[in-house]
Amino acid sequence: MHTRATVLLRRAQEFFPRSFLPPQTKLHTWPSLIHDGCVPQARHTHTYSDTKDALKTGVRNVKESIKEGVKTDLSAWKIAKWIGTGIVTSTGLVLFDLSFANWYNRRNERIILHAFEHGSCPEPDVIQKQLIYREVVIKKLRRILEPISDHSSYHVVVGNHGTGKTTVVRQCARDVGKGVIYVDVPPVLDNFIDNLAKAIGYSFKEYVSFTESFERKILGNSESAEQPRFFRVLDAFERGASKYKANNSKPPVLILDNISKLDQENVNMLKDLQDIAKLYADQSSCIIVFVSSEGTAPLMMMQRSSWSRAEKDPIVIEDLTSEEAFTYLHSKLGIEKKVTNQLIQLLGGRIRDLKEYGNRINRGETFEKVRKIVIRAVNHNFHQAEMLEGERNHVIGKVIVQELVKNGKIDFDTFIKLVNNKQIANELLQANVFSYNPESGTVTFQSHATEVFVRERPEFSLKGFS
Ligand SMILES: Nc1ncnc2c1ncn2[C@@H]1O[C@H](COP(=O)(O)OP(=O)(O)O)[C@@H](O)[C@H]1O
Ligand SMILES: [Mg+2]
Repeated sequence: MHTRATVLLRRAQEFFPRSFLPPQTKLHTWPSLIHDGCVPQARHTHTYSDTKDALKTGVRNVKESIKEGVKTDLSAWKIAKWIGTGIVTSTGLVLFDLSFANWYNRRNERIILHAFEHGSCPEPDVIQKQLIYREVVIKKLRRILEPISDHSSYHVVVGNHGTGKTTVVRQCARDVGKGVIYVDVPPVLDNFIDNLAKAIGYSFKEYVSFTESFERKILGNSESAEQPRFFRVLDAFERGASKYKANNSKPPVLILDNISKLDQENVNMLKDLQDIAKLYADQSSCIIVFVSSEGTAPLMMMQRSSWSRAEKDPIVIEDLTSEEAFTYLHSKLGIEKKVTNQLIQLLGGRIRDLKEYGNRINRGETFEKVRKIVIRAVNHNFHQAEMLEGERNHVIGKVIVQELVKNGKIDFDTFIKLVNNKQIANELLQANVFSYNPESGTVTFQSHATEVFVRERPEFSLKGFS
């Protein structure tokens, strides 16, 4: 078998045959004037003066020849010297080039390993004194973020929009630090690649040494520089993960937040990520945690074969309890008790809404005005689902609404049976009116404000609504 080096050498020989001639071949082409002048002559009978003259001429010839020879030899020596200097200089340059490339690329690898060793996650966007500490969820998350050595499943964290998933996950990731890489997943692949690269400190600007670029050109070995960016960053990620595991005897954790944004046009990207998560879980090389809003993304994941490696009990981030919501509005945001209670009756414990509308109150808006804004936003969601009176999904939507008002939640199978049309079922789940909870396998209203809205609207009323 040829090593890379021998193949390289062969190619170079084909390109520059004269530089690779064996040493004896070179010697034949060198001047041999001195030797020609000294060739012994055949013996004859000569007189002394003949001999003397001949000797003189011979000596002169020899001297001339020596002079010529030395002259020619000197220029040959100069050429040899130049070649020698050239070889030494270019060897020096090649060595420098190789060592610089080696240093530069090793430095990049060290930066990547540093990201794994110290963790990489942005701060949550909540100031410390307004933060509600969610002890139960944090305990569950820490068990995943501080895994044991042969941890071999991936995980899903779900919760409705605005329940505080990103905040609690980032808070926990920063507390654990070591081995946890957090990446926000935007719906455009290129942006995801950039986010992943940034999270692990990977630079696409790889230094390719002259020798390597020569090898790539001559031997047609294109290697990494021409690979798609996704595979380059994934390769770098895997190298970092594997070194981290070797150093710490446990796999690192990769958190992929906001994957619900991938549920429509970018569903293939989500499928690929899920397959990668299964592969890493099989190898116990990295644990992937998907963070998703409820909706069709977790549902789609559960229907695929690679769900086999997922931890079957997703961690669900629920709304704040009434006590937590009260503490948040009254103690943290400083809103008076009466308005605090009104806001909780309207919004339940949805932290995103409590924050937004609590801040409006603090800026001087009245509760009545805030209520109008909330109801208008819910009305917009019903429009999107085409569920208002006279709209395409009104009749079937009303059936679901009435079931939910009666029972609080319905079984997913019952939901599918009632809707009796897969596409409409998907539309309803995507439109922020209802939500699917993968932990309990049930469908509920998307928010407390949604329930308040339907209870007020005559078109959804049913005798017996209370
Ligand atoms: N535990 C918390 N304490 C205080 N504020 C919070 C908390 N969790 C979330 N928030 C605030 O609520 C908003 C929505 O939270 P986020 O984590 O983005 O929700 P999700 O990711 O579920 O959509 C954020 O702007 C954040 O500031
Ligand atoms: Mg989020």
